[in-house]
This record gives sequence, C-alpha cells and structure tokens, in this order.
Amino acid sequence: MRAMKKIVILISGRGSNMQAIVRAAQAEKWPCKIAAVISNRADAEGLRFAAEHGIPTDVVISKDFPSREAFDAALHVAIDRFSPDLVVLAGFMRILTPLFVEHYAGRMLNIHPSLLPSFPGLATHSQALAAGVKVHGATVHFVTAELDHGPIVAQAAVPVLSNDDEHALAERVLTQEHVIYPRAVRWFVEGRLSIDNGLVRIAEDSPHIANT
Ligand code: GRF
Repeated sequence: MRAMKKIVILISGRGSNMQAIVRAAQAEKWPCKIAAVISNRADAEGLRFAAEHGIPTDVVISKDFPSREAFDAALHVAIDRFSPDLVVLAGFMRILTPLFVEHYAGRMLNIHPSLLPSFPGLATHSQALAAGVKVHGATVHFVTAELDHGPIVAQAAVPVLSNDDEHALAERVLTQEHVIYPRAVRWFVEGRLSIDNGLVRIAEDSPHIANT
C-alpha cells in the first residue's frame, strides 16, 4: 500500500486550477490528501471553495512583510506545517526567492499560460496575440529559480483564431489548463515523474493504480 501523498496548493485569486485538481483528486480517488490551500491574499475567491470542501486554508499576506525574503520565510513555515510531498502553484502571483524554490526542488509544480519557453512572465495572451503565433497554450513545469523555466511536465496547445482577443484566448487556454494540471499532479502523486538532466520522464502507468 502506497503512502498517501500530501499536497499544499497556493493560490492568489479565483483558484479554478485548484478546483480542477481538487475535483479530479476526489472523482478519480487519487492516493493523496489535499492538505491545505494557502493564499497570499485574504480575498482570494478560491479560499471559499476550499473551505466548502473541508480543506484547511491559510492566508499569508505579502504586504505584511518588509521584504520578499521575510514573506517567503513565513510562507515556508505555513506550508511546512502540513509537511507536503508536493506544493502546487495554481495562479499564485508571486516571484519566489531562490532559497524558497530550492527548499521545494523537485516537489513544486507551476502552471503557466503559454507554451514555454515562449512568453514567460505576465500578459502571456497579449504577448501571443502581438507575436501573431497561430498556436498558444499552457505548460505545467517543475519550479526552478528562473521564473517560468524549469523541467516541463505537460503542455496543451490551442489554436489562435483571427478574431481572438485576450479574453477569448485566455478562456480557450484555461479550459486546457484544467485538463493538463490535474493530469500532471496525478502523475506526481502516482510517483511517475522523474527529472533526468533537466528533462521530465513520465513512467508508464503503474499496474497498482486503477486507470480511470
Ligand atoms: C491561470 O491562467 C494560470 O495559468 C495563471 O493564472 C491563472 C490562474 O487562474 N498563472 P486560476 O486562479 O487557477 O483560476
């Protein structure tokens, strides 16, 4: 019997990716526990969903701390109270310090709304429209000290249509985020991910876990 993996999810807002992960974990009976949802904003909408689903929540407010280092140290304490196997950044709008990132090396995932390495940073959908790319998408990756870099776990591509605005494109990408993020987290929970020379290897499905 495999140990239940513990997951802490960090959000800053709506938390639709967090919700997709919580729903998939419940529906597909992953061998894991969503141990907590933590936000850097007290008004993050996703906190209500977490509470309604019986998931412990916490808030560490960035502006209460004098420096990035002090905030990250407090966040680190709040996360490690739940001793997670995996930290999932789901629309967590903070740049993290190298020390923090190092502490969770190989056990922290992020989703970024572009096909990395294209369009790191903010406003990815308008970057894509401005560049005139014909496909855009989303990437789940392990977090490393360099922003929006790190070993790629999963990607999904969507077409960019001629009449797209930022909103329409974001919606199309978000639908795919809700597919690939739960899938990637599930792979982690199942122990199928490894990083080999900066590249992610995904092991074959384990016969011990029912495929749903
Ligand atoms: C998503 O598009 C995510 O990729 C980006 O911010 C958005 C967060 O949405 N980093 P939500 O909070 O998961 O609904």
